[in-house]
Amino acid sequence: MNSIAEILTGNLLNQPVKIHGWVYRTRSSGKITFIVLRDSTGIIQCTAKQDELNGEIYDKLKNLTIESSLELTGIVYKDERSSSGYEIKVTDAKIYQRNDSFPITKDKSEEFLLDIRHLWVRSQEFTAMLKIRSNIFHAFSDFFYNEGFYEVQGPMMVSTATEGGSTLFKVPFFDQEAFLTQSSQFYLETMIFSLEKVFTIAPSFRAEKSRTRRHLTEYWHAEGEVAWIGNEEMMSIEERMIDYIVQRCLDENQKEFAILKRDTAPLKLVKSPFPRMKYKDLIKNAQDWGMNLKYMDDLGADEEREITKHFDKPLFVTHYPIELKAFYHRPDPDNPSEILCHDLLAPEGCGEIIGGGERIWELPVLQERMKAMNLDPSAYSWYVDLRKYGSVPHSGFGLGMDRLVWWICGLESIRDAIPFPRTMRRITP
Ligand code: 4AD
Repeated sequence: MNSIAEILTGNLLNQPVKIHGWVYRTRSSGKITFIVLRDSTGIIQCTAKQDELNGEIYDKLKNLTIESSLELTGIVYKDERSSSGYEIKVTDAKIYQRNDSFPITKDKSEEFLLDIRHLWVRSQEFTAMLKIRSNIFHAFSDFFYNEGFYEVQGPMMVSTATEGGSTLFKVPFFDQEAFLTQSSQFYLETMIFSLEKVFTIAPSFRAEKSRTRRHLTEYWHAEGEVAWIGNEEMMSIEERMIDYIVQRCLDENQKEFAILKRDTAPLKLVKSPFPRMKYKDLIKNAQDWGMNLKYMDDLGADEEREITKHFDKPLFVTHYPIELKAFYHRPDPDNPSEILCHDLLAPEGCGEIIGGGERIWELPVLQERMKAMNLDPSAYSWYVDLRKYGSVPHSGFGLGMDRLVWWICGLESIRDAIPFPRTMRRITP
């Protein structure tokens, strides 16, 4: 069996080939039928002539509909008129299924395409996104394996919140109540004691009632945790990681970017090191840019979109006020009203793709923060234990993979960056 990409290299010119695929377009003018066939690797025009084929086969080919599945045998020719430069002259065919009319035709409204996502995934645009997405996941893992990290897995059903109770999804768990995990961070923190440098890619769940272009209720969360390092070193690893992933996509996904009509010029500027700015300085700058932001305001999607217009590289925002973030962030010993944390805001209006920082590793500091935030110590006893037995400074991060795909592909919404988005209003298909 041959692939279309293999045929388009030109190496099989004038040779017999056999391909599997689906009808992308078809047109017939009586004695000659043109079938544009697609497989996972590309599309190619195939020409069937009535006087060169068995009559029954020709009739079947003539009556094919969009997305019918088939096997074609033929000879590869050069065809200067076709955009790919090659075509296949059909000598034989086997039809697996002739469709009724394919439901996706002219109506391409967002809601319709979401309803019919199980069929839309095979479109040229979606296939291009899926290929880039696959490469991003691959590049992320490669980066960390090359850096000597171990890949680990935490549970998805948990008994505690990491990021605060308001976005927890409750699930019945026999006679108890459990939650779907918001982050694997705490479990990664346990595993640095055996492996020192760990990462995971797993779903996280957030019951956020927001319907923005960047929120999903179930998203793919890539997280890392490293012993013996602080916030600064953590940021240096992350910027090299983002640089590496973006470069891999630029090197390997030009064809897909072209299908998505993604202007890659802004991506070419994404070279580490990235600028860093303390939260309080960012607020001052934002006020100078005319934004209505004051100290202690959280940055939402709109504010971040505005801020990123002033940067052509991703921006690290560091040292948030302690009140604005989760309890585990380590207060800056030089100024305990601020924490040693960072968010990474991606350019082009995208905004936060990473949240991370140094963790509190001193037992009394952690106990004090938990008390200040009214957290039930019994619910976090195993997490607190980590500070009792050989505790070490450590830092980590969480990267929203769907947000990264959304930004790198230059898509309208995060919903276009994942095959089956789960949002407040969508659990099907
Ligand atoms: O900033 P967050 O909430 O940080 C944590 O969960 C940490 N425990 C991670 C860690 O340090 N191991 O989430 C991290 C990232 C965000 O920057 C964002 O990219 C993504 O997860 N994210 C979402 N992506 C899609 N939809 C949502 N509702 C998201 N919420 C967070």
